[in-house]
Amino acid sequence: MAFILNKKTKCHVFVTLCVFYNNDFMRQYIEQKIIPLYDGFDKGHGREHVFQVINQSLELSKYYDVNPNMVYAIAAYHDTGLTINRETHHLESGRIVRADACLPQWFSAEEIEIMAQAVEDHRASSDHAPRSIYGKIVAEADRQIDGDTILRRAIQYGLANYPELDAEGHWLRVAAHLNEKYAEGGYLKLWIPESSNAARLQEFRRLLEKTDKLRRKFDELFCAEKTQ
Ligand SMILES: [Fe+2]
Ligand SMILES: [Fe+2]
Repeated sequence: MAFILNKKTKCHVFVTLCVFYNNDFMRQYIEQKIIPLYDGFDKGHGREHVFQVINQSLELSKYYDVNPNMVYAIAAYHDTGLTINRETHHLESGRIVRADACLPQWFSAEEIEIMAQAVEDHRASSDHAPRSIYGKIVAEADRQIDGDTILRRAIQYGLANYPELDAEGHWLRVAAHLNEKYAEGGYLKLWIPESSNAARLQEFRRLLEKTDKLRRKFDELFCAEKTQ
């Protein structure tokens, strides 16, 4: 092949192979060293969650001129701070990105800083808008607005973190949390207009208004989680 192609074309082939080679290793590293961290978190933040955020981030990234490898890595690291502290996990995730000695093999210092800021900005309760499109993508992808998923994750979090509560206590905690976050005027913010989250949020708000129906769903999912 090298004899057929001119110098410029050969260079292009070489660069393409390097990028593929490097990205392959980057993804391998993340799959082997970063994703397993999620196995130690509560069920609502396990592997299933991080894979959903990765897939949804990559899906949303198609609408923007962004680096898909950065999008992938940001989604993979976004909740790693849970290894340190729940309340400030977004900031801890940012520190983990900045401190990861492997990432400079695949990303420039500027890209790593954008990635660190994006994971810091992923939280719904963040008091500022994400600072880049990367932060908006991961924040939006992290909002899995599906009634059953939201309820199940809230129940799983409660069971893992408030073992002293009885069923009624869990219901009251979950109902208060869902209203604070998802009701009209709640702290959840959406950032990507191409996402289907806005329509899903309206649907979920209708469920929130029907307390009886919400309670029946809670009871059903709570029993299923308790018996697992
Ligand atoms: Fe998070
Ligand atoms: Fe998350």
